[in-house]
Amino acid sequence: MSGSANSRREFLTQSAKLATAAGLATATVAEAMSPARPWGSKLKVTAGPRPRSIGPNDVIRFGLIGVGGQGRHDLPRLLKFNPRLSVKTIADPDPENVKQALQIVKEVTGETPEVYPGFDDWKDKLLARDDVDAILTATPCYMHGPIYLGCFAAGKHFYGEKPLCIEANEADALVEAQRKNPEVQAQIGFQRRGTKLYPEGIKRIRDGVVGDLIEGRGAWNNSWGPLGMANEVAKTWPGRVWFGRRKYSGDWMLEQACHTWDVFCWVTGKAPVAAMGLGRPDVYKDLDPLRDVTDFYFANIEFAGGFMVDFQHSWICPKKDPHNKFNGVFERVAGRKGGILLNEGIVLPREDKGEIETYKPDDGDHYVASLKAFVNSIRTHAPVVSSVETARLATYTGLLVRKAVDERRRVEIKELGYKVM
Ligand SMILES: NC(=O)c1ccc[n+]([C@@H]2O[C@H](COP(=O)([O-])OP(=O)(O)OC[C@H]3O[C@@H](n4cnc5c(N)ncnc54)[C@H](O)[C@@H]3O)[C@@H](O)[C@H]2O)c1
Repeated sequence: MSGSANSRREFLTQSAKLATAAGLATATVAEAMSPARPWGSKLKVTAGPRPRSIGPNDVIRFGLIGVGGQGRHDLPRLLKFNPRLSVKTIADPDPENVKQALQIVKEVTGETPEVYPGFDDWKDKLLARDDVDAILTATPCYMHGPIYLGCFAAGKHFYGEKPLCIEANEADALVEAQRKNPEVQAQIGFQRRGTKLYPEGIKRIRDGVVGDLIEGRGAWNNSWGPLGMANEVAKTWPGRVWFGRRKYSGDWMLEQACHTWDVFCWVTGKAPVAAMGLGRPDVYKDLDPLRDVTDFYFANIEFAGGFMVDFQHSWICPKKDPHNKFNGVFERVAGRKGGILLNEGIVLPREDKGEIETYKPDDGDHYVASLKAFVNSIRTHAPVVSSVETARLATYTGLLVRKAVDERRRVEIKELGYKVM
């Protein structure tokens, strides 16, 4: 989130101009710029045009939608490590973020892309351009579903940040859109999938190295809370300060733990059958009474065949924790023959006489690896490493866990009527 007084002033001026132009009161502008679910159940799945055929030596022309923290994290990793890329245009209503993204593009490719500052410009202007082949997009989670559907409808390849989306009907629509537009390379930003580390671990599990799966452990424990606090900008644009509001982020089970669900669904090849949970949505309510995300929860997730995952998610770990007794992000799997630390690349045998195996490949930066895989898929037609279809399982799991935590009970996925079991 940009914090400068200048950019806030520019932003407020822009909102006021919009209000005047549209004959709306400022409150109505705030609504228009932060629609909770404007598309509701009316999701349109279109067979769009085929993307332009791109050969190994062609320049791939990009459009950027959303250049906040993660967009500007991904951008130099995309541009610096992949030759023959061009950035034609940027859509983002936040002037400070746009300014910084323009600087990155200028430094790496020497270009000055055209900027679209309107809230709906991503769809009305950017996706309508004929000179854009591919999209890099990182927006608040509630916008993913419509933006990704828009990319399919416009015949644009896209690297869209995780989660796939925060509603089951959107996830289903996206899977249908991918089926109708098979030539669109759509990669969802689960960067673990772009590495060698995780596939090598999953391969070992599939090869039976740890035996029948019994126990999984995962965590997203950190001391970075509270993230996404309401501020001045939120008065006119509530969806801009979005991490602390469930309707924009989906809550941490969708926004952040989706990485963990993606790994465990990858391990099992399936969505879970049930989840139980307990949590506290009031951890930072004293600072922001409208905050409604679950900054601390536990969940237990059951997969078919008796594989069960114990998961912890906290945004209130001690900041002083030199040995990471509270803090930590990991995915571990144990079976009858041993355990595997998927995020570390280590196999631990069950028996004393067994050997510990360390297989950690040198992946470098996981985001770079993932973005390189995306560009390779565009150029060679190789399947993307993180597809809409696999990402749907993470969205389903997040929704399942969220319901279990909300209702403090065991929820079966079949109660939710999801399409994939
Ligand atoms: N893969 C990862 O490890 C990782 C890490 C952090 C965030 N993310 C994901 O990246 C996404 C963005 O997160 P962030 O931290 O960058 O948030 P952010 O708030 O910093 O950035 C969001 C950007 O989207 C822009 N935006 C909002 N409405 C828009 C519209 N109508 N048109 C175009 N742009 C619009 C905002 O102005 C802002 O610049 C989220 O989905 C988040 O879950 C992924």
